[in-house]
Amino acid sequence: MIFTNLIQTNLKTSWVGKNIEYYSFTDSTNDDACELILNNEAEEGMIIITDYQKKGRGRRNNKWLSSPGENLTFSLILKKDVKKLPLLSILSGIAVVKGIKQFANIECNLKWPNDIMLNNKKIGGILIETKNMDTDSYVIIGIGLNVNQQEISQELVSIASSLRIENSNPIQREPLLAFILNEFEKLYNTNSEQWPILWKKYCNHLNKEITFHKDDTALTGYFINIDNHGNAIINTDSEQISVSTGILEIL
Ligand code: BTN
Repeated sequence: MIFTNLIQTNLKTSWVGKNIEYYSFTDSTNDDACELILNNEAEEGMIIITDYQKKGRGRRNNKWLSSPGENLTFSLILKKDVKKLPLLSILSGIAVVKGIKQFANIECNLKWPNDIMLNNKKIGGILIETKNMDTDSYVIIGIGLNVNQQEISQELVSIASSLRIENSNPIQREPLLAFILNEFEKLYNTNSEQWPILWKKYCNHLNKEITFHKDDTALTGYFINIDNHGNAIINTDSEQISVSTGILEIL
């Protein structure tokens, strides 16, 4: 059970999270957000949250698995701001890492573009989708964060984890979410040119050797920066290139 009043009492925002839709279970909060937009029931800053997401979706058509009653699975609806859109993924990752640090004093970091990492294992992910309507266009920021989950399936245990597994203490999810949303709104109001600079502070593979996998190709080089569209800048033996999609492997 998620207590939405506990989220609200910890919020210091003026528009993010002022309206929270809670479902005890649902297929996907990103799909719910999309439906609210289609029905003209969406408001900027609205949060859709569930305690049991049954068909969570991840990036690249992956599934997002989250054990019921233990984690955070939610979506935030924004109106599309064309200038900020390319960097929203970068911004969301920073907000999650900062919120966790502020509330639970745990230092997570980021793997490009926005995987939330702790002790080199993934504990959270972000799926950003857009929905264009006749009058307004919207952005849906879906965030899954493994908070109190204590068991990870055998096939994922070497690469995935949770705050609880890495830190041993249970964490109250509602104030944690409020702290993340507080950070989100604060950052959203700053100049987006600063976001890549901040993101690099939290990146766990800056200047490290990495390989990008895309379709059947692999490209190895040093991850040296992100540009102001959130693309990865890689130095290979022969050239400097910008990468917008792909799976990053840290060597
Ligand atoms: C990833 O692949 O790393 C992104 C995972 C995003 C999962 C979240 S959970 C809440 C929202 N609803 C979904 O169906 N997916 C996102």
